[in-house]
Amino acid sequence: MSKRFQESGEVLRVPGDKSITHRALMLASLAPGRSVVRGALTSLDARSTARVLRGLGTRISPLRGGAMISVDGRERFRTPTRRLDCGNSGTTARLMLGLLAAHHFRSTLTGDASLRGRPMRRITEPLVAMGAHVHGTGERLPLTIEGGDLVASRWTLPVASAQIKSALLLAAAVAHVPLELDEPAPSRDHTERMLRRFGFVIGQGAGRLQFEPSGRFHPAVFDVPGDPSSAAFLLAGALLAGLSGLSVGGVGCNPSRTGFLAVLRRMGAPVTIDDPIDLGGEPVGTMTVGASPLAGTTVPASEVPALIDEIPVLACLAARAEGITRFEGVAELRVKESDRLTLLAQNLTAIGGDAHVEGDDLVVTGSTRPLAGRVVTAHDHRIAMAFQILGLSRGCAIQVDDPASAAVSFPGFADQVEILRRRQ
Ligand code: S3P
Repeated sequence: MSKRFQESGEVLRVPGDKSITHRALMLASLAPGRSVVRGALTSLDARSTARVLRGLGTRISPLRGGAMISVDGRERFRTPTRRLDCGNSGTTARLMLGLLAAHHFRSTLTGDASLRGRPMRRITEPLVAMGAHVHGTGERLPLTIEGGDLVASRWTLPVASAQIKSALLLAAAVAHVPLELDEPAPSRDHTERMLRRFGFVIGQGAGRLQFEPSGRFHPAVFDVPGDPSSAAFLLAGALLAGLSGLSVGGVGCNPSRTGFLAVLRRMGAPVTIDDPIDLGGEPVGTMTVGASPLAGTTVPASEVPALIDEIPVLACLAARAEGITRFEGVAELRVKESDRLTLLAQNLTAIGGDAHVEGDDLVVTGSTRPLAGRVVTAHDHRIAMAFQILGLSRGCAIQVDDPASAAVSFPGFADQVEILRRRQ
């Protein structure tokens, strides 16, 4: 029997969107004067971006939960006096490389062990082609970049990646040069939406972006919606805990981010979006999920860019669905905060589930038998959260080796899980 969650009229909230917070802090830093960021994420990743921007001369008020963030931006960054530490945050490292490519000084970016293992050539190669100088191979952090006089460019992205696309768009915006990008598939478009607010023209059609450097950054109020990637954990938790009518309000509903909703619906979960509004150029609404038995589905490669960060939690849901779920063409999972493809298959198997990797596909067979054991997360926040959510499923006893890593993207995650657990 499912329990109705909404009887109390309670609507859960999630912290601010990570992708949008990074971009708001970065653009505000290059708008001479005071900008304000409302609803910002204040997690470890967001703090990494603030730390790097402060190292480049931006004044940013402390990132405290619930506080409005003020950013005193300037036309150009100042030469940093020390290495810029991006922590665990790939978005910080990659988008900052784009901004630094248009600044005529040297800076060195580094990060934690996970980030130092992630591929950077996909960013440094096009930035060098645009006119920046990168010392060494540009393969991995730490790496030193020296901005140059960038030139009008055209580039074909090797993978559908918002981080590569955004790095190049930001480089072109700061250097005021045109840019053409061919994308294999669309990825999240927060950078384009934000740049358009500042008057930059970005034409779009037939897999090509055409950027015109027609805008200028000026101080602004940036409103950050709740993160749909965080909401996905709570919606999945409600399904696994058998709670009906769980709502998460004020969540970003940008279609380039909500691919997981279509997958939930195909698996049998009734999901609705209500109260739609526009917040600073981003669609926002209330997501509600009803209780339902789940069935396996196929997630074709074409759907993956719009749900890339939700695969860990979808794979955990698939472990409790009837039948087989196949995630096709998910090779990019190998180069996230951990090798998520391998870790998902290994951990699901280790706790008594059935999952394996076939080429670049992840295949999960669902079951109702109890799943139990210890999960190895490699300090990856989304692996840690996904398996804690799976632990809400009846008869499951799952320990996660580093639950604290949720703080990378979802402060307060443990409290929200507790709310779901108590309603069971
Ligand atoms: C992000 C883009 C995605 C995503 C990451 C955030 C962004 O990475 O996985 O969590 O904010 O642009 P890729 O661009 O590598 O796909």
